[in-house]
This record gives sequence, structure tokens and C-alpha cells, in this order.
Amino acid sequence: MTSHKTAHTAVPLHPLLAGRWSPRGFDRSHQLDDADTTALLEAARWAPSANNTQPWRFLVTRRDEPDFPALAGLLTEGNRSWAPQASALVLVAAQTADETGRPRPWALYDTGQAVAALSVQAEALGLHVHQLGGFDADAARHDFGLTDDLTPVVVVAIGRLDPDAVLPEPLAARELAPRTREPLPALLLHRRRTGSRAA
Ligand SMILES: Cc1cc2nc3c(=O)[nH]c(=O)nc-3n(C[C@H](O)[C@H](O)[C@H](O)COP(=O)(O)O)c2cc1C
Repeated sequence: MTSHKTAHTAVPLHPLLAGRWSPRGFDRSHQLDDADTTALLEAARWAPSANNTQPWRFLVTRRDEPDFPALAGLLTEGNRSWAPQASALVLVAAQTADETGRPRPWALYDTGQAVAALSVQAEALGLHVHQLGGFDADAARHDFGLTDDLTPVVVVAIGRLDPDAVLPEPLAARELAPRTREPLPALLLHRRRTGSRAA
């Protein structure tokens, strides 16, 4: 199903990719059930990762659970104005060091891939995801007792779209605006001649 948010693509894409977008108007009556919660986490679990290290970790809290207001309270003011209407908030952390303290250089990259997989699964379930970098990561680490090997990366709001949700400006206008991207040629790198490397 296409909507005003469907991506305008150079060639047809799978509808799950073309149709995914990040709303702010969430249906506050929707409850995320156990089956959908498990499906979302399974999608993340099966993402690829460097050396299959699987460095992603998720603290899942649904709207009626005690950790929900605690996590919502760590969002920036702008995000706090709408994200608590979502059915669940997920604190996503990356295990950026292994058990011996050695850095895991691809942990953030891998964790982003896991959230991407979760987002596409959400679309397949008729749900929406909005990722949020705007939160107090230090407070999240402290308040949720994360161990030192974990780096809080993002909070993910998950829920069902409410197209009639009332949002403050400028968020209401953004909700209706078409999605935009850089043109494809702007993303392509071309080899630059840099001379010979020193031996
Ligand atoms: C890592 C990350 C952090 C983000 N942080 C925020 C945020 O704090 N607040 C917000 O409203 N949107 C946030 N977004 C959503 C982006 O603004 C959104 O994905 C982008 O504008 C593209 O829109 P689309 O997802 O609808 O295609 C974030 C997205 C990502 C991936």
C-alpha cells in the first residue's frame, strides 16, 4: 500500500523498504503484544555482525510497564512531546568491548543493522518504528545499570500509526511532508588519484 510517505525511487523497491518511514503520530490505544515483540527481536537477532559477535542488546519496555516512563523521561524535550504515545520504547545498546576489555570496532555498525532489520519486520507487521538519538545516554547507562562494556546507542519507539494524532508544530507539518533523500549520484564515490604510496 502506498502513502504520501512512500519513497519515490529510481526503480521499484520492495514495498517494505519503500513504505517504511518514521512517524511521530502513534496510536496510544495500541498495545504491542508478545508475538509481535518476539518477532521484532527475532528480526534483530538474525542480523549479520562482524565475526558473528552479535553485540546488540535491547531493553524493551511497553507503555504499561514500569520502565517505560523512566526511559521516556530520558528523551530530549522534543522527543518527549510525542514518543511516549508509542506502544513500546526500546533502549538499544552495543557491546563495544569484549569480556577482556578489547574494543569491538564494528559493534555500532552491527547494532545499526540489527535495528534496520527490526524496522523492516515492524513494517511487515503493520507497525512503525522511529529511532531516537535524542536521549541522555549517560543517564540511561546509570539509571538502567548498564555494564561498562555496553554503549547506549539509540532509543527505538515502536507502535501503530495514528494518522489523526495531534502533534505540535513544526512536527505536525513534518508528519505530512514527503520524505526526501540526496540524489543517488551524490552518494557515489569515485576514485581520486592520490599518487603512489610511500614504500
Ligand atoms: C540514529 C538515528 C537517530 C535519530 N534521532 C532522532 C531523534 O532524536 N528525533 C527524531 O524525531 N527523529 C530521529 N531520527 C529519525 C530521522 O530523523 C529519520 O529517520 C529521517 O529524517 C528520515 O526519515 P524516514 O525514517 O521517515 O525516512 C533518528 C534516526 C536515526 C537513524
